[in-house]
Amino acid sequence: MKNISVIGTGYVGLVTGTCLADMGNSVTCIDIDTGKIAMLQRGEVPIYEPGLKDLLERNVEAERLTFTTDYHEGLRDAEIIFIAVNTPTGVDGAADMRFVRAAATSIAQHLDHDAIIVNKSTMPVGSGDLVSEIIASNLADQAVEFAVVSNPEFLAQGSAVADFQRPDRVVLGSADKDAAGRVAELYLPLRAPIMMTDLYTAEMIKYASNAFLATKISFINEIARICERLGADVKEVAAGMGYDHRIGRYHLEAGVGFGGSCFGKDVTALENMAGHAGLHPQMLKAVLDINHDQRMLIVDKVVTLLGSLRGATIGVLGLAFKPNTDDMRDAPAIDIIHALTAQGAHVQAYDPVARETGRAAIGEERVSYVTDAYAAATGVDALIIVTHWNEFKALNPTKLHAVMRRPIIVDGRNIYQPDTMARAGFIYRGIGRTTPTLDVEVTANGIAPQRPQPVASGTKTKRPARAKAEER
Ligand SMILES: NC(=O)c1ccc[n+]([C@@H]2O[C@H](COP(=O)([O-])OP(=O)(O)OC[C@H]3O[C@@H](n4cnc5c(N)ncnc54)[C@H](O)[C@@H]3O)[C@@H](O)[C@H]2O)c1
Repeated sequence: MKNISVIGTGYVGLVTGTCLADMGNSVTCIDIDTGKIAMLQRGEVPIYEPGLKDLLERNVEAERLTFTTDYHEGLRDAEIIFIAVNTPTGVDGAADMRFVRAAATSIAQHLDHDAIIVNKSTMPVGSGDLVSEIIASNLADQAVEFAVVSNPEFLAQGSAVADFQRPDRVVLGSADKDAAGRVAELYLPLRAPIMMTDLYTAEMIKYASNAFLATKISFINEIARICERLGADVKEVAAGMGYDHRIGRYHLEAGVGFGGSCFGKDVTALENMAGHAGLHPQMLKAVLDINHDQRMLIVDKVVTLLGSLRGATIGVLGLAFKPNTDDMRDAPAIDIIHALTAQGAHVQAYDPVARETGRAAIGEERVSYVTDAYAAATGVDALIIVTHWNEFKALNPTKLHAVMRRPIIVDGRNIYQPDTMARAGFIYRGIGRTTPTLDVEVTANGIAPQRPQPVASGTKTKRPARAKAEER
C-alpha cells in the first residue's frame, strides 16, 4: 500500500485515482475545480464512464479515496504524485502547458517531504525536464528531494476503467531508475508488461501511439472513399485486412472520423514538435486533413440526396465523440450539426448520455434535443448516424420507417447492412459501401421517397465504377 496523490480529477485522473485506490492504495485526488470536488465529496461522479461510479463509491466507503481542492492537505504523506491535468491544444497546435506548469508550481509550494512526481498527462517531449525545473525552482523547502517519471496513459474513454485495470503495457521513463522502479511496484498487481525507458522516449511513445491509431482511422477512411468510387465494400475490405496480424482489426472502422480530446490534439502537437525540429511531417498533416474532410462527407451525402437542406428536418443519432461517454470534446457531431443548420436545416438530436453536454457544446439554434431515438427520427427528411451506440444498432427499421417523413438514412458509422435497410424501404448510404440496388427516382429536388421494395437475398449490388474500369 502506498500513499498517492492525483492532481486533476478528469477522465484520466479520476479513473487513475479510483483504480489505484481499488488496488489497496490510499489516494487523495486534488482539483482546482471546486464544483467538481464538491460533487465528488457528495459521492456524485462528474463524468460518465462505465463502471466508475460503483468503483468510486466502494473505495470512498473503504476510506481509501478522498477529494480536496487543498494542495497542502492533498499532498500530505504522498510518496507518489501523479499529474493528470489537461494539456489542450494551444497556440500553433502546440500542447498548452499552462495547467501542467500551475500544477507543478503548486506541488513545489506545498511539498514538505521527498516524493516522486509522475507525469501522467500527455506532454510534449522534454516536458519531464520542464516539470523538474519548475518544481526545483519553486520548492518552498529546498531540502526536499524529488524525481520525475513519465508514465503516459493509454486508456480510452468509454472503457477507461477496464483499460486501466488491464493495460496492454505500462510505460515508465525516467533518468532515475530507482524512482521508476518504485512507480513500477504500483503496477505489478496488474501483471502487464512494464517497459522502462528514458524520459523523452516515454513521452514520445504516447504521441507516436496516438498518431498511429489516428493514422489507421484516416487510412481506412481514405480507402473508404476509393471503395465507394470503385464499388467495393470498405467494411469487408477492413475485415479482410484485419485478419492479418501485422495489421490487426482495431481502428479500421470507416466513418465520420475520429474526435475526442486526444487524437486530434496529439497529432497536432506532434506535428508542431516536428515542425519546431525543422521537419515536415507530411503524413501527420494528411491524417488531420482527411479527418477534417470526413466530417463533411455525410453532410454532402444528405445534400446530394435531398437537393437542398433549406427547410429540411434532419435527425441526428449520437452526439458524443464515441459511445459510452458523455464527452463532447472535438466531437464530429459539433461540426456536422453546425454545417446542417448553417444550410437551413432544423436538427432533432438524440444521444443516450451526452444530451446535456451536447447541448452545451452545440447550442440550441435550430437544434432540439430529444429523449429517444425514435423521437429524433419522427418527421425527418433524413436520419444521420454519428455515434455508434449499441442501442442504435438495435432500432426497429419498420418502426423507424413509419415515423420518418422521408426514409433516408445516412449512416456515418456503417452500423447497418445496406441491403437490409434497402429491403426495409430505406434509401441508405453508408461510408465506403456499395449502394443497394434500388431504382432511385431523382426529381428536381433530389431523391424522392422510395416505396419499400423487396430485395431478393443474394441480389447483386451495382458496381458501376468497376464495370467502367473493366470496360477500359
Ligand atoms: N481523456 C482521455 O481519454 C485520455 C487518455 C490518455 C491520456 N489523456 C491525457 O491525460 C490528460 C488529462 O486528460 P483528461 O481527459 O482527464 O482531462 P480533463 O480535462 O477531463 O481533466 C483535467 C482536470 O485537471 C484539472 N486541473 C487543471 N489544472 C489543475 C491544477 N493546476 N491543479 C489541479 N487540477 C487541475 C481540471 O480542473 C480537470 O478537472 C491530458 O494530458 C490528456 O491528453 C487523456
